[in-house]
Amino acid sequence: MDFNFTEEQIAIRDTARDFAQNEIAPSTIERDIKAEFPFEIIKKLGEFGFMGMMVPPEWGGAGFDAVSYVLAMEEISKVDASVGVIMSVNNSLVCYGINQWGTDEQKERFLKPLASGEKLGCFCLSEPEAGSDATQQKTEAVKDGDYYILNGIKNWITNGKNADIYFVQAMTDKEKGHKGISTFLIDKDAEGLETGIKEDKLGIRSSDTCTVSFNNCRVHKDQLLGSEGLGFKIAMETLNGGRIGIAAQALGIAQASLEAATKYAKTRKAFGKPISDLQAIQFKLADMATNVEAARNLVLHAAWNKDQGLPFAKEAAMGKLLASKTAVNNALEAIQVHGGYGYVREYLVERYLRDAKITEIYEGTSEIQKVVISRAMLKD
Ligand code: CAA
Repeated sequence: MDFNFTEEQIAIRDTARDFAQNEIAPSTIERDIKAEFPFEIIKKLGEFGFMGMMVPPEWGGAGFDAVSYVLAMEEISKVDASVGVIMSVNNSLVCYGINQWGTDEQKERFLKPLASGEKLGCFCLSEPEAGSDATQQKTEAVKDGDYYILNGIKNWITNGKNADIYFVQAMTDKEKGHKGISTFLIDKDAEGLETGIKEDKLGIRSSDTCTVSFNNCRVHKDQLLGSEGLGFKIAMETLNGGRIGIAAQALGIAQASLEAATKYAKTRKAFGKPISDLQAIQFKLADMATNVEAARNLVLHAAWNKDQGLPFAKEAAMGKLLASKTAVNNALEAIQVHGGYGYVREYLVERYLRDAKITEIYEGTSEIQKVVISRAMLKD
């Protein structure tokens, strides 16, 4: 693996850093309190090419590599993990899948507006009875001439309320189990597609999460992605890349926690000197810095493998496992370093903890990452 970033990768990272500071940071606290979706910010991210980072320019994207995507995701999430997840779902779940398996017509109709940021996508896999056990899809798509009729319910759908395009897994042949699952691209105004109440969440409150239900929703066969029965493969392979995005989001939270703790430790005095002079605090900062660096190397390794066309599912799972654990631990330690001040909103670190927890849950829980890693190891 080459550890040197190219000039382009550095420029992308710096642009994301400036954008996050200037355009995102001013409204982060208020949007978190009010659980407000960052419409204007997402629109501007699109104009900067951040909503379709790895999509080729001919399909409306920026044509960057996965390493650049990690660098940008970390910078954005360091300031606001809600904006990070909205960006991650659009980039690495929805755009990736369509770019990989879509026909030219589907790319023209769905990918171009998604990659340019004109439209927003969401990824509908989880169901009330199919979370970690994703093969157990109950949503059905029954063929009816040139159409499919979809019935079922999806939950925990990030971007669900505000998406324009829904990337949906549904069973087209129950007899075949997971090999009977297919993927459909559905417009938000399709008859029979309804979104439920927005979840009132612990963290990433400025992003929206809701249920999406399909009640005799008619979808034309041109909106089938790939072919019938390919849906589970599409979902799994797409999630391998999605995990790189969420791992980078977790890195952003972990790094933000480290920086906040370091800054506070240098200014806060106790026992007549800055608390950064105390070994108890120094050891915490050293552990936080070591873990975030280790996690970053794993995540960049996964992205680098992806860019080289090498297998990356195991590396992505390892990166997500460690980065999400580090995000939670670093946020907890940042609160501890701040003492009572860490427990109040003004000092930001309480939000880092609330935002960090979900990275151990969505796009595959930490336990699922261990399943993916151990299966890959034992197969080798
Ligand atoms: N990459 C590629 N293929 C994979 C894969 C991976 N990581 N994991 C499984 N597969 C393939 C298997 O090779 C197998 O294919 P074949 O039948 O062709 O051989 C098929 O999928 C089924 O796999 P298993 O037989 O191993 O099935 P299983 O039930 O024992 O395990 C699982 C499957 C790995 C647990 C899978 O269900 C899984 O990954 N669950 C987690 C689902 C998840 O991540 N959900 C996130 C929701 S989306 C989200 O959070 C987005 C958001 O809004 C932020």
